Amino acid sequence: VGRDLLVTGCRLASMADGTATVMDDAVVAVAAGTVSWVGPAFALPAGTASRVVDAAGRLVTPGLVDCHTHLVFGGHRAEEYRRRLAGATYEELARHGDGILATVRATRAASEDELMEAAGARLAALAASGVTTVEVKSGYGLDLDTELRMLRVARQLGPATGVRVVTTFLGAHTVPEEFAGRPDDYVGYVCSTVLPAVAGFADAVDVFCDRVGFTADQAALVLAAAQERGLPVKLHADQLSDSGGAALAARVGALSADHLEHTGPEGVAALEASGTVAVLLPGAAYVLADPARPPVAALRAAGVPMAVATAANPGTSPLLSLPLAMHLACRLFGLTPEEALAGATCHAARALGLAERVGVIAPGAAADLVVWDATEPTELVYWLGRPLCRAVVRGGQVTSLV
Ligand code: NIG
Repeated sequence: VGRDLLVTGCRLASMADGTATVMDDAVVAVAAGTVSWVGPAFALPAGTASRVVDAAGRLVTPGLVDCHTHLVFGGHRAEEYRRRLAGATYEELARHGDGILATVRATRAASEDELMEAAGARLAALAASGVTTVEVKSGYGLDLDTELRMLRVARQLGPATGVRVVTTFLGAHTVPEEFAGRPDDYVGYVCSTVLPAVAGFADAVDVFCDRVGFTADQAALVLAAAQERGLPVKLHADQLSDSGGAALAARVGALSADHLEHTGPEGVAALEASGTVAVLLPGAAYVLADPARPPVAALRAAGVPMAVATAANPGTSPLLSLPLAMHLACRLFGLTPEEALAGATCHAARALGLAERVGVIAPGAAADLVVWDATEPTELVYWLGRPLCRAVVRGGQVTSLV
């Protein structure tokens, strides 16, 4: 067994079989950034390691995977939130040029350095909550230069912070002011001009399919253009209304269908057969104070894998803790603590096309893991606002130890 690092004394929820079963007194061996052996201490093959971290009976899980964020953006929308607290609705504000378009103006005005500094600080907060892999979307540029700038910043965040970053092009987030009233023309511009130019900077392509975004037919055009270039796709589906998003995501074999607050039985039936992951974003439902809930019981009964993510963004979910998103998924959406942990690890990895590579602790997977100041998986969704990360291992490097 190759070993640069041994993590001993673990109460280990490896998530390798998709469940949060805990193995006591477990050991994880790491070689060259990859997990090389996992098992009970008594079965550990003899040998030495250059470094040993003793978890001393604490819970150890895979590093968390935040599979849906909009971390790169200019400015913030605290003033808009104040107005929403006083009764204005998200869609009303969006129709009057606030909402996503306000962030588009601020992002277009920001330099690459400014975007990098602001996103880096937000990513540091997410990382401190136990996140070792994060997806970052564009979508606040809505023109070629700014979309490219956002994706470049997202790609640089990885080396700058040590967090594994996966990028998604969300050029079809909403219709920008210069295309007002001409959504089809904007979709044409995205497909013919922006997508080809940014394809090398994006690991996947996403569309906001809803009233503030694009119809299912328009979304299908963007997804088809992406798939023609060999890029995997995902979809913001049925967040504000049942717009056929889940069914579209399933039909095109999307990696994930995200939000789903308004998905009906046909959407669930389509997802059942598809292998598409349902990504639940309870921070957005909470901040929007939307009483609609994703059809969790039906998704569970249909065996659709459910991921949980922060959706970190300046409008609907200024949330920078994945354990807090897991808490909300349990409290608001009815997930069990074990489902929430699977949702923030192995199922989130699948939503990024990284199944078996991250989000599990198993031989061959990246050596990304968290030692928690906790003994039970339930504690991760139980404590509110208490930093629980004791140590984080990223690619075999112990990056924090408090
Ligand atoms: O995931 N729904 C679309 N996009 C974001 C919100 C973006 C914004 O309001 O800035 C979301 O909720």
